[in-house]
Amino acid sequence: MNVQKVMVVGAGQMGSGIAQVCAMAGFEVILHDMKTEFIERGINNINKNLQRQVDKERMSSAEKEDVLNRISQSVDLQNAEKVDLVIEAAVENMEIKKALFAQLDEITPQHTILATNTSSLPITEIAAATKRPEKVIGMHFMNPVPVMKLVEIIRGLATADEVYETIENMTNKLSKVPVEVNDFPGFVSNRILMPMINEAIFTVYEGVATPEAIDDVMKLGMNHPMGPLTLADFIGLDTCLYIMETLHEGFGDDKYRPCPLLRKYVKAGWLGRKSGRGFYTYE
Ligand code: CAA
Repeated sequence: MNVQKVMVVGAGQMGSGIAQVCAMAGFEVILHDMKTEFIERGINNINKNLQRQVDKERMSSAEKEDVLNRISQSVDLQNAEKVDLVIEAAVENMEIKKALFAQLDEITPQHTILATNTSSLPITEIAAATKRPEKVIGMHFMNPVPVMKLVEIIRGLATADEVYETIENMTNKLSKVPVEVNDFPGFVSNRILMPMINEAIFTVYEGVATPEAIDDVMKLGMNHPMGPLTLADFIGLDTCLYIMETLHEGFGDDKYRPCPLLRKYVKAGWLGRKSGRGFYTYE
């Protein structure tokens, strides 16, 4: 199938990044969210990213305008009636996602593929909310979307081979690298990343070292671009906790038990960069 028109549901950090890379690759994009102000914030974000490219002389002002003109705004989900692909990047909540997918299943034409950018929720369960589970797939982008090369593509239990191939082709067109994984809690990325972050938090909790020291060990000793605690703040501590809980519940194994200090920070509203405080403070 040839994807031409895409709807991205959710104009937050991930959704706006996905809309940006799709528009840059020449796709017509509808950026959908519940409120105009959310979409405007997303477009603002895209505009800033593109302007940086213009300033660095990697893109002309005219090209930037072309990219922006390929993105239209929507607060009415009915606008999905003419798209070939929906990429959902809404809040990480199974009930909300199921309701959204059931609605999209009613609105979109039969050929439309419904993808989700969920970072850990089961694709198979989201697919079961539709009458087209063979056309539901995980398309997990990494943050910051315009920079990170990986798209983890997750096959649900019923995902059809041709749907996988379409999404693999689409990912290549976005100049990203698709990696195929099966539907299991945390997929591959967060099954490996989050226990490492959780262990770094236990290391603070047990007084082994300061956050700065832990981050230095991993940056200078393992060549990670960011230390695990800086990365946790960047991802959002609420998101880290949510993913650890998904792993803990999904596998029923205490090796995935979220660190009590992570819970405490989230309860305090210390969510990392977005709230101004996490393991570090931000202006
Ligand atoms: N949006 C767009 N572009 C951004 C950006 C953002 N938020 N942040 C940085 N960039 C761009 C910069 O403009 C710069 O571009 P050029 O090289 O083209 O000029 C480039 O990225 C490098 O930026 P900096 O020099 O400012 O900083 P850096 O070298 O420290 O790189 C980083 C920043 C790319 C974020 C790097 O620190 C990094 O790779 N960190 C790890 C990120 C990571 O692990 N992401 C995965 C998180 S897990 C996830 O997303 C999945 C999940 O489900 C939780």
